Amino acid sequence: MSRHYKHDIVIIGAGAAGLTLALELADCHRVAILTKADIREGSTLYAQGGVAAVLSDKDTTESHINDTIDAGAGLGDPEAIRFTVEHSKESIDWLINQGVPFTRYGEKDEYHLTKEGGHSHRRIIHSADATGLAISKTLIKNATNHPNIDFFPDRVAIDVVTTKKLGLAGPNRAVGVYALNLKDDLVEVFHGRFISLACGGSSKVYLYTSNPDTASGDGIAMAWRAGCRVGNMEFNQFHPTCLYDAKAKTFLISEAVRGEGGKLLLPDGTAFMSKFDKREELAPRDIVARAIDHEMKRLGIHHVLLDISHKDPEFIKEHFPTIYKRCLEYGHDMTKEPIPVVPAAHYTCGGVVVDQHSATDISNLYAIGETAYTGLHGANRLASNSLLECIVFARSAASHIATIQTLNDDISIPDWDDSKVTDSDEDVVITHNWQELRRFMWDYVGIVRTDKRLLRAKHRVDLLLSEIQEFYANYKVSNDLLELRNLAMVADLIIRSAMSRKESRGLHFTLDYPNKLADSKPTILVPNNRDTAKTEDNYVER
Ligand code: FAD
Ligand code: SIN
Repeated sequence: MSRHYKHDIVIIGAGAAGLTLALELADCHRVAILTKADIREGSTLYAQGGVAAVLSDKDTTESHINDTIDAGAGLGDPEAIRFTVEHSKESIDWLINQGVPFTRYGEKDEYHLTKEGGHSHRRIIHSADATGLAISKTLIKNATNHPNIDFFPDRVAIDVVTTKKLGLAGPNRAVGVYALNLKDDLVEVFHGRFISLACGGSSKVYLYTSNPDTASGDGIAMAWRAGCRVGNMEFNQFHPTCLYDAKAKTFLISEAVRGEGGKLLLPDGTAFMSKFDKREELAPRDIVARAIDHEMKRLGIHHVLLDISHKDPEFIKEHFPTIYKRCLEYGHDMTKEPIPVVPAAHYTCGGVVVDQHSATDISNLYAIGETAYTGLHGANRLASNSLLECIVFARSAASHIATIQTLNDDISIPDWDDSKVTDSDEDVVITHNWQELRRFMWDYVGIVRTDKRLLRAKHRVDLLLSEIQEFYANYKVSNDLLELRNLAMVADLIIRSAMSRKESRGLHFTLDYPNKLADSKPTILVPNNRDTAKTEDNYVER
């Protein structure tokens, strides 16, 4: 027997996106928030640099819009970009009203704005170098104190339940979620009038990533299985600078370090970014990551160096207290010497196709935050535009949901049926496939691609998908199996999208088509079971 829970809104994920949506709706709705681990765990917690917004008199909306278009290599959706930037200031005000302690400075006690790659102005509001921690702590405190919000940690959402899956007549809509309770290994049923996927991205599909373990693409895979389109999956962002140290498990060194004067150096101390872009260290991320990759391959070195030791040590410790302390733990004193850095998978620019209200192709199903494809990032995300997107689009989803009158009907969702499956006696298959998948994605579908490498990856992922499907059909679900199933599905979507793009643009760089096409469109993949027909002629549907 499954346990059943009933709420107005079921939100999967408690990052910036999920928490914002919950807090915006909780005064008038009962909200359930599911998280697959501890409620704090997710990319939001680790965000460093800050949130981009037009906050200074010297800055303009047009400038932020142009920087976003430029970083996205011209593939961003102009309407989504304008919508986001025009709502940036009110989103920061919302965070401030929630109580987020952004860093202030000077006699006037103004908010400090830092700079990151691709930005032509100082426009990143931040909480020293631990902005995500400040946002996460504040929003979680407010949400846990709200009487209408119930948290369900250690619940791994498996799939969205739709009326179509239940065999009910009428237009398809989302009505619930099956989720595995990790405490007792039972699958529970969460009923909701609205379901929101706020599960973060899928960078864990790569062997080396700045992301926490939660980033296994569950939201994207669930939406795809339910029948939603996904967009621009070939554009996975690699952050140029993660600490190179086996013990550090790819700790991020914020772009703000370069924003405040950090230089990238080869092992002999030579600066090299001027060879690649006139903006040097502050070029958009795809350019900097590719330059580092190029130099590492050219010289056969394992890392490059990032040097900010020419700055006053007190300035470094004040601006980057977390990074300074973490590096010191691994024996690197950034106030005195350059630190070793490498690129790592960082951000999923594509995701579930949504409109300006974060609505997906299925009624009552929303996707927000890194799970969604809003059109904001195009072929490459501008630094610190992600947290902004989480807040803007979660708030937009909330105002949309608040206006919809749904039937308050009591749809019966059956218990999870595991009567035909047994306990697995071969978990080694999962571990093996897991490692294989993440390695071939790194080797064949990474920073530099070719047709041959993509084809190799496609053959492997096809094999894995069929093995995983067989495993899923015969054995009881576990967290590892569910994540592997989702990672393989997302890997397949990335590879298919990459194979269909016959040009190099933004984060998709292929030696076989090194130039940009004159006319380029987002890549939209359409699932076989899609039943709504939102056609938009500015997309290439494949
Ligand atoms: P997340 O914060 O990743 O939260 C995902 C949630 O979904 C978690 O609660 C997780 O438990 C839950 N979840 C996932 N799958 C399931 C499932 N199957 N069942 C139940 N729950 C599930 N962006 C910026 O704009 N500025 C920055 O300075 C910045 N710095 C960054 C630094 C690091 C190290 C990293 C990793 C990212 C950074 N980013 C930054 C990107 C940004 O942090 C993320 O894109 C953003 O926080 C994503 O928020 P989210 O709410 O979409 O998802
Ligand atoms: C960073 O601080 O470099 C991360 C910023 C981001 O991912 O937007």
